[in-house]
Amino acid sequence: MLPTIAWDDDQIVMIDQRKLPAREVWVRCATATQVAKAITTMVIRGAPAIGVAAAMGIALEARRSRAAGTKQFTTEFQKTCDLLAATRPTAVNLFWGIERMKQTFAEAAAAGASVDELKTRLRSAADRIHDDDVASCRAIGRFGATLVPDTACILTHCNAGALATAGYGTALGVIRGAVEAGKRVSVLADETRPFLQGARLTAWELVRDGIDTTVITDNMAGALMRTSTIDLVVVGADRIAANGDAANKIGTYSVAVLAKEHGIPFYVAAPMSTIDLATADGSGIPIEERPEREVTHVGTSRLTPVGAKIRNPAFDVTPHRFISAIITERGIARAPFDASLRALAGQASRA
Ligand code: MRU
Repeated sequence: MLPTIAWDDDQIVMIDQRKLPAREVWVRCATATQVAKAITTMVIRGAPAIGVAAAMGIALEARRSRAAGTKQFTTEFQKTCDLLAATRPTAVNLFWGIERMKQTFAEAAAAGASVDELKTRLRSAADRIHDDDVASCRAIGRFGATLVPDTACILTHCNAGALATAGYGTALGVIRGAVEAGKRVSVLADETRPFLQGARLTAWELVRDGIDTTVITDNMAGALMRTSTIDLVVVGADRIAANGDAANKIGTYSVAVLAKEHGIPFYVAAPMSTIDLATADGSGIPIEERPEREVTHVGTSRLTPVGAKIRNPAFDVTPHRFISAIITERGIARAPFDASLRALAGQASRA
């Protein structure tokens, strides 16, 4: 399986997602500052992947600490958490990962752990977050496969694949799960302007796996829904509010509205770490505005005239009424989502 992010001795290595599919280049991070930069500049992206990267970045920085005692170590730890929390605002997995590291730290510190013990505990916690994410994606794949007909054309938007997680993927996990269950699957990958995660990353992953893949530009989805058979849409999410409203890559909302108009099931696949019960509905989800250059240029070529104003919201919110089901590692939630998501979250606290 493709390693999105991994340890290499005292460093973190990640495949540079900005360069794919043209070049497979690996970026090394020796400090949390470098990890934060990798997240901000999209070397690594995708909600679960940036949560894992933040946790690993915290463990990395803890390991290089020269703090003489726990007081100084605690100050440094807090600073690192703040640095990583400031990278991207929308995906709640980032804050979830940092919170899990803070809990680990607080429990170990309360038990009187030394600086060395704290470093070890943080490293184990980061490894667990990484491995749990892969396991969650595989479970999402198994649940999601039950929703896929034996022969299916599936449309997806953005990249919610191995590259966007610690491995296997969420939306692409459902596709992989269906293929592993013996179903005949073909995929329509929306190109996903402006960063082209669909054209570059989803297509790259699926072609590597030998899955029948067709890339379309975003504005083709409606016409194809009307004129050809698309059995279902499956996408990932960056944050799902308590009522089921789901933030995902810009353009997802348009796809969801089109799917409803054409009677096509629209599924969101995401781990529980994406569900934010503290946010009542989609209006409370912060939407990241990214640099204009992502819209004005493709590579080094300028597309737009100087003087034209530019907007670049990186995400949109799909209201829950457009969502047929939310596929998690604990099962499939359906409307009313406030009850079904809460029930799935409750399973965790009992486990
Ligand atoms: O800006 P990105 O590339 O980080 O946005 C990624 C998405 O919107 C994904 O669909 C989402 O994070 C789910 S990834 C499993």
